[in-house]
Amino acid sequence: MKSTPILKALTAAGVGSRRWAADAIRNGLVAVNGEKVEDFRHPVNIETDRITVSGKSVNLRPEQLVYLLVNKPRGVITTTSDERGRQTVLEILPQKYRNLRLYPVGRLDRDSTGLLLLTNDGELTYRLTHPRFENEKEYLVQIEGSLNPEQKRKLEQGLELEDGMTYPAVVGEAKSTPPFNYSIIIHEGRKHQVRRMFQSLGFQVYALKRVRMGSLKLGDLKEGEIRALTPREVRELVTKRSDFMTGTASQI
Ligand code: URA
Repeated sequence: MKSTPILKALTAAGVGSRRWAADAIRNGLVAVNGEKVEDFRHPVNIETDRITVSGKSVNLRPEQLVYLLVNKPRGVITTTSDERGRQTVLEILPQKYRNLRLYPVGRLDRDSTGLLLLTNDGELTYRLTHPRFENEKEYLVQIEGSLNPEQKRKLEQGLELEDGMTYPAVVGEAKSTPPFNYSIIIHEGRKHQVRRMFQSLGFQVYALKRVRMGSLKLGDLKEGEIRALTPREVRELVTKRSDFMTGTASQI
């Protein structure tokens, strides 16, 4: 059995995201056969080595990788558990998916709807959420009234929020998808980012729906519906480079 770098083995096993695994190694929480490991590339044999995180054994044999597309309804939160008893996205899944250690890729506000990818593939999660990969996210937005050319330009060129300037975005009109009247493509994932971008121009966002993430489209999946990704969709997500800023918001 060949050896695998510890970071890759931890991520592939679906015990947590790549970022979580990297932090655990960096913080000296990971040990192989009782020896603390601090090098991400430290080779491990997942069949025979005993790996622990914070003293607890972890099984590094990769589990079945699952990729689900959910159209998140309003009122559901995108964490795996909630101390305040609010309904989580895991709770709307059929029972057969509940014990696969799936987690959401990126966040959607409680009041937002639309595309949410759930997976136990830590490597893919990392590629889709790390800003370095500039992964596009496309949203439909409902605001009252319309943007003037200056406001549209500001959204497109980048504007100042309390946590810094936003990257350029692509803004379009969404004429055929009421109640939404605009679409916006961004490639960051800051908290409440789209709402804050519009709020900074004086617009309250009444409804927000994610319709695309990279190459993956929500299509006609209804609110609350769930489907597995096709093998082709998984392949495209893994391999396709973002064509951010080369096109315009899709005509919806
Ligand atoms: N931006 C937001 O403001 N909210 C979301 O749910 C997603 C992006």
